[in-house]
Amino acid sequence: MLLKKQLNQTSRHSIVSALEIGGVKIAKDDVVRDDPTNNVPDTIFTKLGLQLHMRDQHPLGILKNAIYDYFDMNYSTKFVKFDDLCPIVSIKQNFDDVLVPADHVSRSYNDTYYIDAQTVLRCHTSAHQAELFRKGQTHFLVTGDVYRRDSIDSTHYPVFHQMEGVRVFSTDEWEKSGIDGTSYAAIDLKKCLEGLARHLFGAVEMRWVDTYFPFTNPSFELEIYFKEQWLEVLGCGVTEQEILKRNGRENNVAWAFGLGLERLAMVLFDIPDIRLFWSTDERFTSQFSEGKLGVKFKPFSKFPPCYKDMSFWISDAFTENNLCEVVRGIAGDLVEEVKLIDNFTNKKGMTSQCYRIAYRSMERSLTDEEINQLQWKVREGVESKLKVVLR
Ligand code: DAH
Repeated sequence: MLLKKQLNQTSRHSIVSALEIGGVKIAKDDVVRDDPTNNVPDTIFTKLGLQLHMRDQHPLGILKNAIYDYFDMNYSTKFVKFDDLCPIVSIKQNFDDVLVPADHVSRSYNDTYYIDAQTVLRCHTSAHQAELFRKGQTHFLVTGDVYRRDSIDSTHYPVFHQMEGVRVFSTDEWEKSGIDGTSYAAIDLKKCLEGLARHLFGAVEMRWVDTYFPFTNPSFELEIYFKEQWLEVLGCGVTEQEILKRNGRENNVAWAFGLGLERLAMVLFDIPDIRLFWSTDERFTSQFSEGKLGVKFKPFSKFPPCYKDMSFWISDAFTENNLCEVVRGIAGDLVEEVKLIDNFTNKKGMTSQCYRIAYRSMERSLTDEEINQLQWKVREGVESKLKVVLR
């Protein structure tokens, strides 16, 4: 799906044509190319290099620093911190090195941004585990921007931020405890992350849920009870022995975790919509200051959303992620949600879907005329790019 040359009306960064991340110089045509193996739109290129997690007065930077403090306070062996690793990685780093199966959905063009058939925008910070093991790192935290094609709502944005944590144990550490290495690592992991959750949230109720990740065994999710519901806050587990073996750590065991910074920050700072993290409006940015975790965000405007529906006959190639990419390419951050509200297949086997688009600015009121114009452009874009038949 090629979406080059779309007009992003809300972007203030579209003039940038080259940037540098972690010492790597990146030009726009290194990332966005008119080629069927490339599905990176301009709107995504404009986010590269912004590195919100590096801003000490931004909720994501404040949260990152609070997690750093926890590890600094509790471990005598310092965790080495990486927060400037380049988000452009090979499919080997992003998938193969962490044992993601060949047929896993995350490898599809529908889910991941491909620069070419061998190169992607990392979809998780786990992409750096193997190289850091090879470099001899045994205690590390990797923070970075990650990229995923997805649907649109208040908690999903195609760029977000993760932190990965890894700890390697040597044989003598668990042998003297009398329990096997895997159990030893799992116990230590749970203790570490329960402590982290208390450091961030105070005395919250928590629970562990067994789950599956390709790179860990056993694998767990930590949930905390927050505002009357269980909220998944991170994934973790004991690193697959195969990953350690391939990267020079055959006789060790390790644990690893990955957490989504926006997810946690939305809860800690009461931020109602994930688009706000990208806002440069002073009424947002001025509410946060360095070192102050959990200051509650006060909404400065609450404009009503405006809903527009569109129905079309879909083809086999249609996907919701592609639809969302087209909508976001035209309406930028003015689009708050894209939701399937009707779906039926007629006697001839043709499927019709109706999507409701919610438009709302975080910063100002939108005029009817502006929204109508946007909706017309969206209809045109959807029709020409997605090969659907509008009804
Ligand atoms: N990479 C996972 C994700 O993006 C998160 C994760 C889960 C990271 C378990 C880990 C881990 O290191 O052990 O969903």
